[in-house]
Amino acid sequence: MSKFPLDYSDKKPLGNTNEHLPAIGIGTWNIRNPSYAVEALTYAVEIGLNMIDTAEMYQNGKAEEIVGLVVKKVGRDEIFITTKLLPERFSDDKNATRAAKASLKRLGIRYADLILVHWPASGIPVGTQIKSLEVLANMGLTRYIGVSNFEGQTLREALTSAKKHEIVVDQVKYSVLDKRIEDDTLRICIENKITVQAYTPLEKGNVLRNEVIIDVAKKYDKTGIQVALNYLISRPMVTAIPKSESKERIKEFSGALGWRLSQEDLKTLEAL
Ligand SMILES: NC(=O)c1ccc[n+]([C@@H]2O[C@H](COP(=O)([O-])OP(=O)(O)OC[C@H]3O[C@@H](n4cnc5c(N)ncnc54)[C@H](OP(=O)(O)O)[C@@H]3O)[C@@H](O)[C@H]2O)c1
Repeated sequence: MSKFPLDYSDKKPLGNTNEHLPAIGIGTWNIRNPSYAVEALTYAVEIGLNMIDTAEMYQNGKAEEIVGLVVKKVGRDEIFITTKLLPERFSDDKNATRAAKASLKRLGIRYADLILVHWPASGIPVGTQIKSLEVLANMGLTRYIGVSNFEGQTLREALTSAKKHEIVVDQVKYSVLDKRIEDDTLRICIENKITVQAYTPLEKGNVLRNEVIIDVAKKYDKTGIQVALNYLISRPMVTAIPKSESKERIKEFSGALGWRLSQEDLKTLEAL
């Protein structure tokens, strides 16, 4: 048996809310060609991969502006927009509010769906960071709040620090070749109904260099990319946010949905 119960759903619960996220959303780090990216992201939304992940840090706000162009094309209500603010913004409420408003301006929207602390701020107590994050939801600048790169005890502390608004997401590095979160953080997320957004899920394309992944893919008439994503979304509460600015690759990502690897093949991949 595989290490976790097999989750067949392509719509994952958003934390403990009644909302759902597509099991595959799209990242926006390191966009090279903005016009290809707008086209690819628009296509992603149209085919139902309508969770877009961005951050104020990505290309100094340019990525948020690109997402803003997509919003104009498809309509605000068609996309679930996640953005991430730099950790030092969460030193106090005023700083966090200022940064969130600047992000919203670049995105051309009145509120985000989800704002995350990009990684735990060193030198600022977790409780202070989460308090400032909650202010953003209180002010209506975001519908939901969450964290990124919070692991183990730091994640637990964040969860208990949240008072009025629940932490719904932890965005962490997770791929079929990098399973460190499976030991602790993933279990905390499953137990506490926190949605995982697995970043760098393709290891930047390097999953294609692994012969075991390619062999498994052949059995299903799928690609290595699709197997790498399917592994992740077969876990309860886990979504993946691969990045591409190519329409063809986005289409390939969508081929990871609608089926699941067998328990036996999951076990083989767990051993990598
Ligand atoms: N919270 C955090 O600290 C954090 C850290 C890193 C990333 N993230 C988020 O997670 C997203 C995904 O992570 P990532 O961008 O680091 O890595 P990734 O999704 O593993 O890989 C993206 C790279 O792989 C390439 N690629 C996509 N499909 C491919 C295919 N079929 N064959 C070969 N190469 C392919 C893409 O190129 P093309 O674009 O040319 O297709 C891109 O360069 C980011 O964009 C970002 O939104 C968050």
